[in-house]
Amino acid sequence: MKRRMWVVLILAAFAVGACGGGGEGQSADANGTLAPVPAEYAGKSNPFGADAAGEGAVVFKNNCEACHGPSGRGDGPAGAALDPKPMNLAALQVAAGDDYLFWRINTGKEGTSMLAWKGILTEEQIWQVVAFINTLQE
Ligand code: HEC
Repeated sequence: MKRRMWVVLILAAFAVGACGGGGEGQSADANGTLAPVPAEYAGKSNPFGADAAGEGAVVFKNNCEACHGPSGRGDGPAGAALDPKPMNLAALQVAAGDDYLFWRINTGKEGTSMLAWKGILTEEQIWQVVAFINTLQE
C-alpha cells in the first residue's frame, strides 16, 4: 500500500516537470531562432560604442554576475536553482544583435527570473552592459 503511494507521487512529480517547460516556445537558445525584436527596439544601435564595455563590466559584476556567472555562461551561484537557468550570454551574443540585447535587458523575459532592468539601470548603463556582453567569449 505504502509503496504504491510513492509510485503515484513520483509519477506526479514527473508530470509536473514535463509541463514546467511549457513556456519555452519563446526562449532563445543561442543556436535556435531568436524571438523577433519589437518595433520599438528593432534596429537600435549602441550610441556609446564598444568602448563602453569597460563600464559595462562593472554594471555586469554588480547586477548580473550572481546569476549569469563571471564569464556570462549562465553558471552564477544564484542561478543554479532557477528554471529556466540564466542564459549563456557568451553564446547568445554571437547570434543576437545589440537591439535584441538592449530590448531583453530593458524589458526582461516573461516566465523566467530575468527581470526588466529599465528604471533600475539607466539607459546608458544598459548600453554599457550590452557592449560588455559583446566581449564575452564562449
Ligand atoms: C535572478 C537571476 C538573473 C539576474 C540577476 C539577471 N538575469 Fe538575465 N536571465 C536570467 C534568466 C533566468 C534568463 C532566462 C533564460 C532562458 O530564457 O532560458 C535570463 C536571460 C537573459 C538574457 C537573454 C534573454 C533571451 O532569452 O534572449 C539576457 C540578454 C540577459 N538575461 C541579460 C542580463 C543582464 C545584462 C543582467 C544584469 C543587468 C541580467 N541578465 C541579470 C536570470 C537573471
